[in-house]
Amino acid sequence: MGENTPTTTLTDSIMAPDSRSESLILTHPTAEEKLATWNLNSVNWGTALSVADYLEREQYLTTVPLARNGGITHWILVDRSLPPNERPILASCESLRKPVLVSHNGVVTEAFTHGIGSVFSQPKFRGKGYASRMLRELGPLLKDWQVDPKTPGMHTCPFSILYSDIGKKYYAKFGWVPFPSTHIAFPPTASSKPFTATPLAESDIEELCATDEQYIRRSLENAQDAKIHVALMPNHDVMQWHHKRENFVSRKIFGKSPLIKGAIAGDVGSRVWAICTRAFYGPLKPESGNTLHILRLVVEDEADVEANAAKLRGILEIAQAEAKEWQLGHVELWNPTKIVKQMVKETGLEHSEVEREEESIASLMWYGEGSGTSADIEWVGNEKYGWC
Ligand SMILES: CC(C)(COP(=O)(O)OP(=O)(O)OC[C@H]1O[C@@H](n2cnc3c(N)ncnc32)[C@H](O)[C@@H]1OP(=O)(O)O)[C@@H](O)C(=O)NCCC(=O)NCCS
Repeated sequence: MGENTPTTTLTDSIMAPDSRSESLILTHPTAEEKLATWNLNSVNWGTALSVADYLEREQYLTTVPLARNGGITHWILVDRSLPPNERPILASCESLRKPVLVSHNGVVTEAFTHGIGSVFSQPKFRGKGYASRMLRELGPLLKDWQVDPKTPGMHTCPFSILYSDIGKKYYAKFGWVPFPSTHIAFPPTASSKPFTATPLAESDIEELCATDEQYIRRSLENAQDAKIHVALMPNHDVMQWHHKRENFVSRKIFGKSPLIKGAIAGDVGSRVWAICTRAFYGPLKPESGNTLHILRLVVEDEADVEANAAKLRGILEIAQAEAKEWQLGHVELWNPTKIVKQMVKETGLEHSEVEREEESIASLMWYGEGSGTSADIEWVGNEKYGWC
């Protein structure tokens, strides 16, 4: 090279090193780096809010019960030779720890998973393999991350999960296998009061979650086939994570938080209930895909389909009225079981069945033996409450 050769090559290699370079490291951001990442990815995930409100939401969500005490971990891919706050952030994501149950031949084990979210690479670094490098390192690393043999429920992380918004192929390359990702969609409808179901308030949720935890455990204990059955715990912390997010965003957009968090019908032992949340992905326009999500649907006794369908109808009518009131595009019920599908049909309500191909593809990386696909693993309660 001549004396006057521009030094851009050197600068470029520092700013955008080879994604296979040994100098790259997966580590944790400083507070300043976290803020910088949120600022950048606000274009993708913050469009329902002002940038300032989005930054405030992301910070706030690190303090809610599921996220505190190390529940959330932020990850960045950077060059190890550069000092914190001065190193380019080549790729980033976060993982959220959640309790799970795993059963094989009816023996149920308490464990935990990490749900990965906010996978991001800033536009100027895209297509260079940085997100791939991050994910290739993160997958196996999460198997041992926060595992503590001495603490019950923390002694093993049998799998990690994510919900892909970029189709079924990208994350499968690294080992997160796509699982069933369907939903039933219902249109918003104006209130048809008096409702036949009872709305649920925030104060009703904790007790219902405790009951649901027993149900989901029992359904894993009673699993008959040779598959491994896994379930994320539909517990109060998990539901609160959704509701606190919903309350925060609704307050910013509407100046108030919704009081209705679901609906319930029937007597103890044969109740049907749904826990709901409103998700705002963008401005109050149909193209934003803003949705009233049923986080979790519980049918206490599945025997009487006709009676359950009547209860479900009352619950869905409340959900549809809420969707209308909060200007949401539709109501979604994720991965309904065969019986629930039958119940929905019997409600007589207008609905459509959707097989998602691009967005919210539930994906699971299995750390144990076997194929790790849905041929070997049954994901019980693969509903919206598991999303992050
Ligand atoms: C998705 C993303 C993290 C990839 O980061 P990256 O560092 O460019 O990824 P890599 O260089 O390792 O891989 C590039 C590959 O990503 C895949 N990819 C990127 N965006 C994609 C999309 N919207 N749909 C499908 N595949 C996509 C492509 O296969 C691409 O291959 P190409 O280089 O032939 O185009 C980045 O594009 C991004 O931040 N996008 C916006 C936020 C987002 O959608 N995150 C994913 C949420 S699940």
